[in-house]
Order: sequence, then structure tokens, then C-alpha cells
Amino acid sequence: MARCIRVPKKGAEPLREALMEQGLLDLDHRIRRDGDFILIPVLADSFGGYEAEEADLEVQEHGETDYRNLSGVPEGLRDLLPSSFDVVGDIAIMKLPDELLPYKAGIGEALLKTEHGVRAVFLDGGVKGEFRIRDLEKIAGEGTSETVHRECGTRMMTDPSKVYFNPRLATERARVASLVRDGEVIIDMFAGVAPFGTVIARHAHPAKIYSIDLNPECERFMRENIRMNGITCMEAIIGDSTQVIKGLPKADRIIMNLPQMADRFLDSALRAAKPSGTIHMHRVMERSALEDFERDLVSRMASEGLGMRIVRVQELKTYSPTMSVYVFDIMPEAADSSE
Ligand SMILES: C[S@@+](CC[C@H](N)C(=O)[O-])C[C@H]1O[C@@H](n2cnc3c(N)ncnc32)[C@H](O)[C@@H]1O
Repeated sequence: MARCIRVPKKGAEPLREALMEQGLLDLDHRIRRDGDFILIPVLADSFGGYEAEEADLEVQEHGETDYRNLSGVPEGLRDLLPSSFDVVGDIAIMKLPDELLPYKAGIGEALLKTEHGVRAVFLDGGVKGEFRIRDLEKIAGEGTSETVHRECGTRMMTDPSKVYFNPRLATERARVASLVRDGEVIIDMFAGVAPFGTVIARHAHPAKIYSIDLNPECERFMRENIRMNGITCMEAIIGDSTQVIKGLPKADRIIMNLPQMADRFLDSALRAAKPSGTIHMHRVMERSALEDFERDLVSRMASEGLGMRIVRVQELKTYSPTMSVYVFDIMPEAADSSE
């Protein structure tokens, strides 16, 4: 038995954080869900207006911090266990090779034991289709894959099984937000649940952000993220950005985070940008093809009467042994300032 407070699910996370900050969270026991309530183990008689009660909570093991040592996978296969995985909010998402699939339940349970704050573990079957949705199978823990992710002082509701979300873009989102000047009009052409817009709205002072996505499931998440973060300058739009963009004001900044094929839409973006505007285009490609890609891009746009120059290229992350994701910061040709 352990001492805990019984709080409604909705207000549980801020309370858990407050307890943690004040050193009153009992780290020796695990948080448990009970219907619409969450039982949070505490080191106090009451907290936040909730009286503590006794409940049967699992003991939190602290000894082992590497899930691989608790996974129950035979010695001969241990080297196949991944050393990294994504944590989105309170869920973990991991890829496993076929040889480890018979052990997936034990691997998931091991991760729950070593990763503090992880409620459920999902097996990643890869992203599919134009909406880039993840095929997820729960292998341990409780609840669905809907979760609230924290990034750069913001909270973002997402569900990687319904909408695309990549926690590994946090640094890039912070970089783009740091470039935004007061009063900018910004268009995010492939917004997902609008993490770029959310981080920008929180850390800069744009006049307007238009976050567009084709996936109808994104609308609910975008609206919730606008609400949760108290954003007033962002509009969530569902539709094909190449069409939607034609009806929007010219933009100071356009974000094109569609790494498999963003360049196919660059003409639309160049037409929608102010002459002094900047486009951030993300693209995955063979590292050896980078120079050819840049040359080809400029000549393809020129053939459509669209001048442009690439003012900065940065490798964001490795995608495969030979491929990487790059960001190209692009300005219309007439522009003369650079960032
Ligand atoms: C890589 S995800 C973007 C994720 C998001 N920027 C983030 O940081 O999490 C690409 C998104 O583009 C959307 N998409 C694909 N084609 C589109 C189009 N023609 N117009 C608008 N959105 C589109 C997909 O539904 C998907 O959510």
C-alpha cells in the first residue's frame, strides 16, 4: 500500500509536475489509473486540495536504468535490441527487428520499468501514406496513443497513429522560431498538429500563422493546441496547401516540412512568399546527391519563371546509412537580405 492523491485525469499532469518540483512525488511507487481518476503517489498528507488516501500501487524499481537488461531477451539476441526510441508525451515508440517480435511484451514491460513517466509502449510499424501516419501496436502499458507532448515551453496534443508527429524536430522548430521577426505573416504548408506554429507563437510575435494540413484528423489536434497554449494568432486550416495558399496574404516565412517531396511544392511557396520572404524546405535525400539537387532545383524553378537562391543548407539528421534530412533556407531571387 502507498499514500496517494486521487485526481481527475484531466488535471493530473500539472499536479504531478508540481509534486515533482516540490519534491513531494513518491518516486518509489508507480502512478496508476483508476477509471476517470489517476492515483499519484505522494510524500504528503494532502496536496493541491486533495487529501491523501491509501492505495495498492506497484513498487517502482530503481536499480536498473537500461531496459535491455530487464527485457528477458535471450543472450544471443540482445545485440539486436535498439539503443534508442522516441518518447512522445507519455508514450514510447520503438522499432524492433523481426527476430525480437516474440519478445515484444517483455521488451515493452522492461521499458515501462526504466523510463520514468512512460505510460505505454508502442511497436512502430513505420509511417504510411500521404498523411505520414504511424502504424502502432501497443505492446505494454495502458491507454491509447493519444498524448500531450512538451516541447520548448509548449504543450502539444498528438496521436501518432492518426496524425504525423516527430519529436526529433524540436531543435529545428526552435531555430525557425528564433528567426521570426515581429509582425511576420507565416504559412506552414504541411503543419501536422502545428508544432512549428505553436513553438513560434510561444517564442515570437508574428502577426499571423496559417497552419495547413490535408489530414482532417489534424484539425482537432491543431485547435486543441491553439487552446492549450493560449494562442490567438494561429489559424488551423484543413486542405491542400497548394490550393489554400492561393487565397492567403503573401507570407514573410513559409515552412515546408514534407521531407519526402517538399520540392514538388516549391513553386507554390515561391509564388506565395513576399520578395523579402524566407522559405524553410525540408528534404530527405542521398548525401551524395546534394549538389545536383540544389542545381536542379534552381533550374527547375527558373524554367517556371521563378527566381530563387538557397541562402543556407543544413543537415538535420541521418535518415539511413546513405541518406540525410536537410533544411534549405530559400529566398525569392529578388530578395537581397540574408539571415
Ligand atoms: C512530415 S508531416 C509534417 C509534420 C509537422 N510539420 C511536424 O513538425 O510535426 C507532413 C504533413 O503534410 C501533410 N500533407 C501532405 N500533403 C499535403 C498537402 N498537399 N497539403 C497540406 N498538407 C499535406 C500530411 O498530412 C502530414 O501531416
